[in-house]
Amino acid sequence: MTKKKAAITGVQAYVPEYILSNQELEIMIDTTDEWITTRTGIKERHILKGNGLGTSDMAVNAAIGLFKKTGIKPEDIDMVICSTVTPDMPFPATANIISDKLGLINSFSLDINAACSGFLYSLVTATKFIESGTHKKILVFGADKMSSIVDYTDRTTCVIFGDAAGVVLMEPSENGYGVMDSILRTDGSGRMHLHQKAGGSVKPASHNTVDEHEHFVYQEGQAVFKFAVKNMADVSVNIMKQNNLTSDDIAWFIPHQANLRIIDAVSRRMGLDKDKVMINIQRYGNTTNGSIPLCLWEWEDQLKKGDNIILSAFGGGFTWGAVYLKWAYDKVIS
Ligand code: UT7
Repeated sequence: MTKKKAAITGVQAYVPEYILSNQELEIMIDTTDEWITTRTGIKERHILKGNGLGTSDMAVNAAIGLFKKTGIKPEDIDMVICSTVTPDMPFPATANIISDKLGLINSFSLDINAACSGFLYSLVTATKFIESGTHKKILVFGADKMSSIVDYTDRTTCVIFGDAAGVVLMEPSENGYGVMDSILRTDGSGRMHLHQKAGGSVKPASHNTVDEHEHFVYQEGQAVFKFAVKNMADVSVNIMKQNNLTSDDIAWFIPHQANLRIIDAVSRRMGLDKDKVMINIQRYGNTTNGSIPLCLWEWEDQLKKGDNIILSAFGGGFTWGAVYLKWAYDKVIS
């Protein structure tokens, strides 16, 4: 008997209206559009403005769009996973808050924190619940309000990040397509290079931690860059090898959007032509957990049933991974 498969059967995303351009950043800090563009590929990013709005609000907007377009009803959902590093609050889980705001009454929900690899970790977790037969309609969110943990006086990090949320619906596959394989990895010793210093149990919030700007992203860019290129390329090439895929077999590569130079280096190692690589970092920056579903959403019209797609990410932790899936549907364009 062939194993039951899990497939993405719908995708939607939400980006806040406000656009923070490189030109506006030039006024705020000592930087230039030229430096940001050549070092990262980013031209602008979206920022969630408004008091009392958090990650769950962007996720809910994405989910409302998904319900509308797929005809799925809130009561059909039996599980919710939200990958995020910017939860609405330390507890309860943002997935709990999203479930309440959406009126999901037949599901359980949890958050996954694997930094920029979180969406892949969540996708694979949802896949296992569907493959086991216990769950049939799972919402997987990748959502971050990075502007809530970015120090807009630190030019080395504030030019990189943006806010966004994406969501996919996962269901048992009806045609044998869906998630075919995955590799996920963690190396916690990398935490020294990318983390948030305070606000956790080791260093709870205090006047001092606020004065020292310790509630923001701390990143040693160059060190992270080197690990990201090596590990993202290795894992992407390995998943191709273990599934006997050549670059010709791959329809699309969806890399986490952290830096255009990382994306180019990884695509080259995979032997892929540029036109197979989804890139939208120039308009959104690094949206952490949002970046991969944001790509799926923007390219959804071009995806065809049976397309071989590789997703790949690297992030704080360190965490990294790749997922190989066969796209399961052709979008009905209304
Ligand atoms: O999302 C998951 C994990 N994150 C990543 O994958 C990010 C990986 N790292 C990177 O993408 C890059 O390392 C950065 C984009 C963060 C930085 O680029 P870089 O080419 O590695 O720059 P750098 O940190 O080596 O800095 C080079 C110079 C420095 O000046 P000096 O010391 O050479 O005088 C920085 O102070 O660029 C300076 N610099 C800037 N200059 C203008 C750093 N940020 C800026 C800025 N504008 N915004």
